[in-house]
This record gives sequence, structure tokens and C-alpha cells, in this order.
Amino acid sequence: MAWNCIIPSCSKGKYNNKAESNTREVSKKSSFQRLSFSDLSDPNSPMLADDLSNSLISSNLHVFSLAELRDITNNFSWSNLLGEGGFGPVYKGFFGEKFKHGLEPQSVAVKLLDLDGLQGYREWLAEIIFLGQLRHQNLVKLIGYCCEEEHRLLVYDYMPRKSLEDQLFRRYSTTMPWSTRMKIAHGAAKGLAFLHETDQPVIFRDFKTSNILLDADYTAKLSDFGLAKDGPEGEDTHVSTTHIVGTKGYAAPEYIMTGHLTTKSDVYGYGVVLLELLTGKRSIDRNRPNREQNLVDWARPFLKDPRKLYKIMDPKLEGQFSAKGAQRTCALAYKCLSRRPNFRPSMTDVVATLEPLLGLDDWFYVPFVYIAPPDQDEKVIESKSEEKEGNDDGGCGGGIRSGWRDRIISTTMSFGNYLDVSLYKNRLVASNNCVDY
Ligand SMILES: Nc1ncnc2c1ncn2[C@@H]1O[C@H](COP(=O)(O)OP(=O)(O)OP(=O)(O)O)[C@@H](O)[C@H]1O
Ligand SMILES: [Mg+2]
Repeated sequence: MAWNCIIPSCSKGKYNNKAESNTREVSKKSSFQRLSFSDLSDPNSPMLADDLSNSLISSNLHVFSLAELRDITNNFSWSNLLGEGGFGPVYKGFFGEKFKHGLEPQSVAVKLLDLDGLQGYREWLAEIIFLGQLRHQNLVKLIGYCCEEEHRLLVYDYMPRKSLEDQLFRRYSTTMPWSTRMKIAHGAAKGLAFLHETDQPVIFRDFKTSNILLDADYTAKLSDFGLAKDGPEGEDTHVSTTHIVGTKGYAAPEYIMTGHLTTKSDVYGYGVVLLELLTGKRSIDRNRPNREQNLVDWARPFLKDPRKLYKIMDPKLEGQFSAKGAQRTCALAYKCLSRRPNFRPSMTDVVATLEPLLGLDDWFYVPFVYIAPPDQDEKVIESKSEEKEGNDDGGCGGGIRSGWRDRIISTTMSFGNYLDVSLYKNRLVASNNCVDY
């Protein structure tokens, strides 16, 4: 059966009125039985169309015509373009007053399937089946879809801060503060935990910064269920897949080797994103020196040793973060990135680990005084810093060197420029009392 045959209401300009009138949320406690993706892809299932139709009714998805979506996106104009991924371009749109029954005026994001692209009906349908039935504050809300002739579109809540990738890595973006990073890590973990813990678990399979959208107050919302899979059923320990799909730099090593997919594959991807939040570095970057190109390979040894965390923490944070929070988050990332899936924590454990770290405020500001040095002096400072860095003594001798006290700018500790590296290191070591690796 072709994917485009499955949705019964796919026809030019016809709306599913029933879908507009009935709302029911899916949650763990609900008696509602979620339709699995595999059910719907089984060509022998006689209930196929009805099952899907019912699930769409219960999820209250709206069916849009292409003309309506053209209208709200200014004819898919370049000026409305929000970004573009493997599925196709994404445009900003706006529902005006009385645009459609049951819809409030609001901004939306309209994703248009690129008919010449690599993705297609499968991804479009998976998005509708999963996001149409699963609702959670940390999943992006799918408002509806369009299925007209060969065109396939998806309509979502508009996320004003776009994706975590946009916020963390784009050159024009300002530095994201530590507390915001932790909030995003926690929200994204709750989204994944929800998927893994529902009655019929879902494996997300493409967890990465570009698939974490951010609303105005930086609440994380997982998006892109095109590659999602129903989790193993009954006694099965994993789902076997024949095609390895996902994104390089985030896919779990055992999944790449065997094609075996479990919720622990998502935990690995989560560990990579956590590392990106800690370091401010992309998971793969060909512009970095050879041994640093793969973030996990480079950072893993440092995660284990609290005395070395200063080597990986994002210098743009300028030391403004909770030392205990950073250590525990690094320890958590280390576990999530374990080569052995069983050693990785569940996402529920991840949420529980992060929760107490959110409110930590053991910021460590080092005021110091600075007089712009002549060139010669600057060289001395640099070489002293290097000397200190090399002297990895576990750090009890930290302190502002006497020469630095004479200087006149009062500022917070800056890792990038004039940081006394030993201070930074000591701070991380000092609060390392009960970190469990
Ligand atoms: N609901 C939304 N609100 C605001 N911006 C969005 C929304 N959905 C997507 N975007 C923007 O569009 C961009 C492209 O999104 P899309 O999910 O299609 O691709 P991607 O995640 O970047 O790549 P991939 O195809 O590998 O998933 C995102 O990075 C984001 O900037
Ligand atoms: Mg995406």
C-alpha cells in the first residue's frame, strides 16, 4: 500500500470536520490505545483507514487546503522562510481572526515536503501518526496537515526561538546562560522520558539540537518524528531495523553496528546534546583539529575527571555556571554516552538527576583587577597560565596571584582571556564531593 493512500481524507480542499470537533489528549493514564506506526503500515490490516481516521479525530488535527496555507505564508515567500531541513522548507504563517473554526489567531510554522528531496510520505505520515496522538508540554504541537494531490504539508505551533541549534551555534546568537542550558536539558529530557514511558513506548531516533525547538521562555519542545519508531513489544529487547538512519555524531554506536534500536539509543543522542550544551561545540565539526572533530571522542576522557572539566566547559560562559551543576551534568553525560547501552540511565533517571541541579546557584565569581599590560607583560601572563594548567596537582594552591591583584578592572572570571586556569580548576575540584560516575 502506498503511503499516500492511507489517509482517507486526502483529497483536494476537503476538510475533516469531525477532526475539528473532537478533542482528546493521549497520556499514560488515558485508556486511549495509541495506534502504532507499524499497525498502519501493515497492508493486510482491514481496519487501516478507519483506525487512522479515528486516531485523527481523537487528536483534533485540522486538515488544511494548499490554498489556505499559501494564503497564511504569503505564498510561501522567501521572507517567511524560517529554515530548511531534510523534509523541506519551513515557513512562518499566521492564522487571522476567523481563519478557520476552532483556531485562535496565532503564528504557525508550515513545513512543506520537498518533492525532490530525500524524505517523503513515510516521514510525513509518521509525524502525523505520532504527534497527532501524543501530547506533552515538551513535544511541539502539530496543529494539522495538508494532503492535496502530491503536496504534503505539516502545520505546527510557531516556536519564537526556533531550534536549540539556532540558539547555541549560530554566529549572530548571544551566549546562552548556564541556567537556560539547564532548563533546556531538563525540558528535552522530560520530552524523551515521556516518549519512552508511555504505554506503547516510542523511540525518537533523531535526537539532536536542530530537533529541539524553543518557545519564548526556552521551554524545549521535541520536533521531527519522521524517523520515530514504536519501541519493542512483549519480550523483545530491541527493534531490528534494516536501514540505519539518523544523524552522524548523534547515533548510538551499537545502533550503527547492528541496526538494533532501543530507548537507550535515544539516551546516547541525549548525551551528545548534553555535551554540546556543556561545551558550546557541535557534535561533529570538520573545522576543528583532527582529534577534536568528533566531540564525544574528544570530550569523553575529560568528563570523568572533575579536575579536567575546565578543558571542555564552553569558554563563552566565562566561568559563570554552577560548579556542582557542571560536574554532575558532565557525569550524567558520561553515563549517557556509555558504549554499553545497559550502563546508560533511563530518561526518567536523567530527569531526576537534573531536577536538583536546576536551582543551584553556587556561582563562582572571581573579581580581579586588570591594567592593560604592555605586550611584554601579556606574554608573561600567558606563559604563567600555561604553566599552571600543566601543573595538574588537583588544585589546592589556587588563588589570585599577587601581581594580578594590582590591576584595576573588576570583572567576573573569564576563561577565554585572562583567567587564572588553576582557579577555575580548583573550583571544579573543590565541590567534587559526591559525584557518582
Ligand atoms: N515550529 C517551528 N517554529 C519555528 N521554527 C521552526 C519550527 N519548525 C522548524 N523550524 C525552523 O526550521 C528549521 C528547519 O527545521 P526542520 O525540522 O525541517 O529541519 P532540521 O531539523 O534543521 O534538519 P533535519 O531535516 O535534519 O531534521 C529549524 O532548524 C528551525 O529553525
Ligand atoms: Mg528537524
